[in-house]
Amino acid sequence: MSKAFYIETFGCQMNVHDSEKIRGVLTARGYEQTPSPDAAELVLYNTCSIRDKAEQKVFARLESLKRRKAGKTIGVLGCAAQHNGEDIFKQAPHVDFVCGSASYNALPALLDRVEAGETRVTGLDIDTDETFDAPQTERGNPYSAYVTIIEGCDKDCAYCVVPFTRGPERSRASRSIMAEARELAARGYTEITLLGQTVNSYRDPSAAGWSFAALLDAVGNVAGIRRVRFTTSHPSDFTRDIVEAIDRNEALCNWVHLPVQSGSTAVLNRMRRTYTRERYLRCVETIKSARRGIELSTDVIVGFPGETEADFEQTLSLLDEVEYGSLFSFKYSPRKGTPAAAFEQVPEEEKSRRLTVLQERQRRIQTRRNAQAVGGAEEALVEGRREKFRQWIGRTTQNRVLNFSDPRGLAGNRDLRGAYCKVRVTGSGPNSLVGVLAAAESAAAFNGFRILQ
Ligand code: 5AD
Ligand code: SF4
Repeated sequence: MSKAFYIETFGCQMNVHDSEKIRGVLTARGYEQTPSPDAAELVLYNTCSIRDKAEQKVFARLESLKRRKAGKTIGVLGCAAQHNGEDIFKQAPHVDFVCGSASYNALPALLDRVEAGETRVTGLDIDTDETFDAPQTERGNPYSAYVTIIEGCDKDCAYCVVPFTRGPERSRASRSIMAEARELAARGYTEITLLGQTVNSYRDPSAAGWSFAALLDAVGNVAGIRRVRFTTSHPSDFTRDIVEAIDRNEALCNWVHLPVQSGSTAVLNRMRRTYTRERYLRCVETIKSARRGIELSTDVIVGFPGETEADFEQTLSLLDEVEYGSLFSFKYSPRKGTPAAAFEQVPEEEKSRRLTVLQERQRRIQTRRNAQAVGGAEEALVEGRREKFRQWIGRTTQNRVLNFSDPRGLAGNRDLRGAYCKVRVTGSGPNSLVGVLAAAESAAAFNGFRILQ
């Protein structure tokens, strides 16, 4: 009889994709996934430790499982596992094993030991130069797939745990990436998101020696692949040839996520971000000079140690200058083992105030920018349905959410999930666009078979 496992994922897309790989490893061993921890013999948390809040969530989950532990094996995986190591057992003695995100290659061996009844098993090796290849990956989405191209991080940002949790940078051979992309296309996937903590630092380790731009171009040219995204980019490695590739290759989406973190060069220096405000803006200029309209999004940390009101104003003015399509903003959270944790901290209330001001400023920018899209037509890949509003949820090449209805009944009763739809944009808000269906093609039918008009 198969054993049931439950997995909950916290954190970024890398973690979401790692969970897909872990699911594949477990299914190959005869486990079956269950949607609730109650029915599971094996309960896994794939954790994040980027901010304290993310880590606390995991400990809260572990605490609530304590009373229901009987008959269950509990494993903590991912970044909080790597970050806390064996301390997890001290805080949560009912945990049976921990495995960090840099050690997933050891997962089958760890599971052997756990299945043999061993407890307090650890996989925390970070000196791995391998990437986590899991041929049995079980993806959660039938038309859009993540593909890891680089793991770990060699940057040295003063606030960040990732170099400790995910280990040193390792790029994957271009041949292996291309084989996965072709296989995905053959299985009907039409959208690929290339993943890496610093995705554009990719350097092909094989003799082929491809640059990141060459890889983008090649993935975009795989027959059947209609959209290619990549995240997250580091400004210091964002070279002009990436923009040229996007201009050349229609399959490469018009969207770049380029975390700036702060608009003040003084703060960027203390953060060890390796670029200045001016250099970042030059990079933005290169992206904006593309023939295709490339949308930018970013991450910002407010209240980094030593951030003055004037520094913060510089971040606000940078938002006005760049006009991002979307922004993720965070209050600085001190992380154990990182240099900035020892710096003098900005008071919590001040961080909260700055976060509110920043988000309000960005909301106005997005409202204005989204309004400019009204009246135009966009292609949306349909990702879901909002039954209550009788709307499909789609995403444009620029990574904007576009919810649309079908007032003329063009799609009949068809399930449009996975289809590419031409949508007339009729309205907008700060976070999304709304529209009406004009025409559609099925996802598998990107090869020309139009189901409508
Ligand atoms: N505190 C707050 N935000 C952080 N980030 C990374 N480390 C921290 C931290 N210690 C943010 C950065 C990064 C995003 C994924 O999380 O903005 O780009
Ligand atoms: Fe969280 Fe960073 Fe780990 Fe992703 S890589 S799960 S954001 S700590």
